[in-house]
Amino acid sequence: MEKKTFYITTPIYYPSGKFHIGTAYTTTLVDTIKKYKKMRGYDAYMLTGLDEHGQKIQEVAKKLGRTPKEHVDIMAEEAKKLWKLMEIEYDDFIRTTDEHHEKAVTKIVEKFIENGDIYKGSYEGWYCMPCETYYTETQLIDGKCPECNREVKKMKEESYFFNMKKYQDKLLKLYEEHPDFILPEFRKNEIFSNFIKPGLEDLCITRTTFDWGIKMPNDPKHVLYVWVDALTNYITALGYMSDDDTLFKKYWPAQFQVVGKDIIRFHGIYWPIFLMSLGLEIPEHIYAHGYIVMKDGKMSKSKGNVIYPENLISRYGIDATKYYLLRELSFSQDSLFTPEGFVERFNYDLCNDLGNLLNRTIGMINKYFGGCLKADLSVEKDIDKNMHNFISEKINLVEKNMDEYRISDAIAEIWNIIARTNKYIDETSPWVLAKNEEKEYLSLVMYNLVDSLRKIAILIMPFMKNTSNSMFNQLGINDDKLKSWDSLYQNNCLKEINVIEKGEPLFLRLDSDEEVQYIKDVMHGG
Ligand code: MSP
Repeated sequence: MEKKTFYITTPIYYPSGKFHIGTAYTTTLVDTIKKYKKMRGYDAYMLTGLDEHGQKIQEVAKKLGRTPKEHVDIMAEEAKKLWKLMEIEYDDFIRTTDEHHEKAVTKIVEKFIENGDIYKGSYEGWYCMPCETYYTETQLIDGKCPECNREVKKMKEESYFFNMKKYQDKLLKLYEEHPDFILPEFRKNEIFSNFIKPGLEDLCITRTTFDWGIKMPNDPKHVLYVWVDALTNYITALGYMSDDDTLFKKYWPAQFQVVGKDIIRFHGIYWPIFLMSLGLEIPEHIYAHGYIVMKDGKMSKSKGNVIYPENLISRYGIDATKYYLLRELSFSQDSLFTPEGFVERFNYDLCNDLGNLLNRTIGMINKYFGGCLKADLSVEKDIDKNMHNFISEKINLVEKNMDEYRISDAIAEIWNIIARTNKYIDETSPWVLAKNEEKEYLSLVMYNLVDSLRKIAILIMPFMKNTSNSMFNQLGINDDKLKSWDSLYQNNCLKEINVIEKGEPLFLRLDSDEEVQYIKDVMHGG
């Protein structure tokens, strides 16, 4: 039987500077969902890449004494290096300077023209250079850019426009028929009341103020403004409008497109309208996450509060870094990054709760059974049944949350399983069973601990693969079937238990003061 497809995308990032933890968060989230879907039997395909055109990139390159092309080539290597370091398993990395993308975008714009969706006019508005966005007078906040709070400039230029107004009713219908097209719901409501209800504005799609971009067909003085070039990456990467569109036929429409809250407007309005104009299907969900913010507000180099993923990974490892990001960022709101919070999660959640559970279990199996045992499952008591039931319920909740893309909530449920298993050790008091020579029941308790750890290792696999593998190794579980998602509901699949002689700590406890200081130092560029 053909597997069900699942197409998931990150935004394509501006290669304007070093990629920070915000970008790493989006990519990790998407990668985790992709890996989860794969474990659930989907043919999952992940796209990421770079948004390489535009005035901002042209200016950054100039400042660095590079041509725009030299600059984006360097940045593309940096992005790929970072994703490799973070063990991100993307299927394609698109760059908007890729020839096949540029050609396809030209054809897409020609199709817009053919449909009568483009007209020439002149645009006057308040322009925010860093955001590359025009705003109307009413959109400004205290006369400044509503997105980044920086100065805006009044500008007028001859431009091509996309007739968005024409699609107002169709867009409203889409929102009505697909109430969960934009997630979370309150973001949809925001877009609706701020941009759709007052009436859509036509979108200016070209600029004459810079030349680093794809030329307007038949009018090369005009360069396509980034959003037409950028948004269409999700389909050109699959071969739309190219000779080979096999992937496009297979994977489009996307199931889940992840963006930050600042760009949900573009994805919630312009993107579906472009697709409507092209006669293509609309993605199932566009999801906007909140921001990672610092105690003193948004991350910025000038404030000296930027966190780069490499600094955390080199000291605490990939798994701990991903764990923190995914656990700390909620489905809908902004989340605060604090060095104290990072160290706390490392010490409590990873070292104490998870690491110690594995270590204690392996220690006891070595001590009481010389590392090897077979259990008689028929001696099960209510305590054991209770734990099994609890874990099965929680596995269900992990799945439900993962399926609803609430990754942080799913991880919290996994940690409930860990806490419950730790409690099971206290409830059954294996040291008392050993003293009383209740070997038969003691072996069942050990069996249950190993089986619970096996399930935990499966559940964390999409985002903590190294830890998961280390757990399987230490527990002596080699059979892939016992590592599969399907085996989560089986309680009796381990024939014999054979753990390693001496457990290795999954995470070494951190000295809080020292590590908080380290993180603060690297935030200030130390
Ligand atoms: N190039 C556009 C996207 C085009 S998609 C067709 C862009 N690039 S960006 O590099 O500025 O931002 C990329 C993503 O990173 C956005 O989704 C943005 O929300 C996200 N983040 C930037 N800073 C962030 C945080 N501090 N926290 C979380 N995500 C953040 O916009």
